[in-house]
Amino acid sequence: MTHTLIYPVNATHNAAGHLEIDGCDMVDLVAEHGTPLMVYEEKTLRDQCRRFMAAFRERTDDFEVIYASKAFCTIAVCQLIAEEGLSIDVSGGGELYTALAAGIEPERIFLHGNNKTPRELTYALDERVGYVVVDSFDEIGLLESMAAERDRRQKVLLRITPGVEAHTHHYIQTGQLDSKFGFGLAEGHAGEAIRRTLAAPHLDLVGLHAHIGSQIFEIEGFRTAISVLVDLLKEARDRDGFECRYLNIGGGLGIRYTGEDTPMSIEEYVAGKVEGVRQEMERVGLPMPRVLVEPGRSVVAKAGVTAYRVGNIKEVPGIRTYVSVDGGMSDNMRPMLYGAVYEAMIANRAEDPADTTVTVAGKHCESSDILVKDALIARPQVGDILVTPVTGAYFFSMASNYNGNPRAAVLLVRDGVARVIVERESYADMVAEQRPLHG
Ligand code: LLP
Repeated sequence: MTHTLIYPVNATHNAAGHLEIDGCDMVDLVAEHGTPLMVYEEKTLRDQCRRFMAAFRERTDDFEVIYASKAFCTIAVCQLIAEEGLSIDVSGGGELYTALAAGIEPERIFLHGNNKTPRELTYALDERVGYVVVDSFDEIGLLESMAAERDRRQKVLLRITPGVEAHTHHYIQTGQLDSKFGFGLAEGHAGEAIRRTLAAPHLDLVGLHAHIGSQIFEIEGFRTAISVLVDLLKEARDRDGFECRYLNIGGGLGIRYTGEDTPMSIEEYVAGKVEGVRQEMERVGLPMPRVLVEPGRSVVAKAGVTAYRVGNIKEVPGIRTYVSVDGGMSDNMRPMLYGAVYEAMIANRAEDPADTTVTVAGKHCESSDILVKDALIARPQVGDILVTPVTGAYFFSMASNYNGNPRAAVLLVRDGVARVIVERESYADMVAEQRPLHG
């Protein structure tokens, strides 16, 4: 471990010189469960949840921390998050199914999506999901008619696009004007959405939502978004009598992927958001609403590491050394999609000096299948176990079966005990839904 801050809290090197996570030796875990293997440390997961909750409690009584389950959605993780007092955001039918299978109270579920299908909305309404975050004019109409059919009032928030360009990769910016998400302020769409929702008898407009992007390191973008939302609230209050009870300012807190990253802390993020809302509401003379945030990455990323087996090493003289592992873009799309940078280490020789620069390549049939471009690791050997840290978010949830690779197994470790929370997919699982041409 060159930078301990990017590993789970209880990661260390043990007497055998192996990477150990909360008492579980990675070499033993791999021997038992195979590779690629995702390992989550339970204590880090719980710590991250507790830090969010404690930071809020210090500043307000009226808040809700909603876990954005798109970052990593499994039954066990939904249960753990709920045990820590967080609510859950789902953005598709399958995430909703997982949350319900985990026993999450429907009242604590927020349904998101810029194009929720009628099937997903029906499912959510039938299960009495607490909140729908409405994204488009068409959805207002559809949801009103579906709630009317059930003779119910559905609580909703409206997703507003505040026109803020967050300083992050273009593909994970969401708050800018030119966006498929939400109601923009230009041409008065946001104000019009508020009016139409207030006029819909079966929709109960409890508040507004904005998510400006992901992997954001500084508070300024959020502060600007809050200020824009509050101006809108003031206008809607004066013009339409809208009383905003909930203000949801999305997720987006950036994390350390490498030793060079310097994100704000959870505490700074929460303070910035809560105090931002307080100051802005005071500025316009409106009462403090419930403050909601929706962190995904910052809850789960650091808790997870992924272990691979080194299969071959190829030196291209004078250019680079490729170290190929038994996973790649099927379990981690982030380097290919966002140019994401990772570190790596050799887990079975954790104490050896990291003195060799290599390119960690995956096993897929694409040149872009590079997991870590210039990884500084101990001199690698075929058969080594190579670990990439900070793989807890947007890995498993974005995994594919490309080139016929089954999805990895996922373990949850605590106090020397490892539990399987997702079994390794089998080849048979991968074709289970397929039907033959004949017969
Ligand atoms: N709320 C909404 C409405 C969102 O769209 C997202 C993330 C979140 C909350 C959680 O954001 P977080 O706290 O995780 O930054 N696949 C990309 C990230 C996409 C984020 C999509 N929305 C990645 O791997 O970087």
